[in-house]
Amino acid sequence: MDVVQRAWLRQSRTEYTAASLVAEMTHWMCVVGLSPDLLVRATRVVSDEVRHATICHELYLHAGGAPTPVSLVPRQLIHADDPEAPMHLRLITAAGELACEESVALTVFRMRLENATDPMARDVCEVILRDESTHRVFAFDVLDALSELYGLEPVRAWVRPRLCWWLRIYLRAKLRDEEPRYEPSALAFGLIDRREHWQAMRETVESKVIPAFQKRGLLEPEATGELLTRELETFDPRAVGGAVV
Ligand SMILES: [Fe+2]
Ligand SMILES: [Fe+2]
Repeated sequence: MDVVQRAWLRQSRTEYTAASLVAEMTHWMCVVGLSPDLLVRATRVVSDEVRHATICHELYLHAGGAPTPVSLVPRQLIHADDPEAPMHLRLITAAGELACEESVALTVFRMRLENATDPMARDVCEVILRDESTHRVFAFDVLDALSELYGLEPVRAWVRPRLCWWLRIYLRAKLRDEEPRYEPSALAFGLIDRREHWQAMRETVESKVIPAFQKRGLLEPEATGELLTRELETFDPRAVGGAVV
């Protein structure tokens, strides 16, 4: 399997994983009684993610990949939280995590689209880019609804110590001295130079994610990506206490 095929097969898995996580989140949203508008939007996100998974798999085949089912990784189908926590706290985690992921996905797909010249790769990137911007708004709207329902302070007390964990992939990104360079033919299929990729994800954390959490009062104004990176060094997901809302 070449780098292009591997990238789009992996992206298909990521999209199915997102569908699964948002489906579980939708169930929790029903249980805690969020608005019908948010519930309908949640179901749209799930169906968007299934469609993304399908078109990424089609692109994998178009790039010469052999027909193969997309295998999911069970540990990725679990929200980055304490599975023993009460449901409404797990929902806060799910919404917070999604807000982080969708913010970064937007940047990544904008870059994929800039590179892509293959018509099918461009179509796939355009569809996903358009949808992810609505998903980002959705995730923050759910967070806002939860702050309204349970009060800002209890939600902040749950979100604040976990934010570094939700961003761990981007905060921890370490490039090797010698990163492989992709051929122009791979970039034409929407791949991104690894160095630019990681740098852009990190910048998105600073320029989009951190300010969005600060604006909502869920993160103190002076917090930076550097501070969250330091917190991550000593973070133990099982040892973080949260306010019982
Ligand atoms: Fe997606
Ligand atoms: Fe999405």
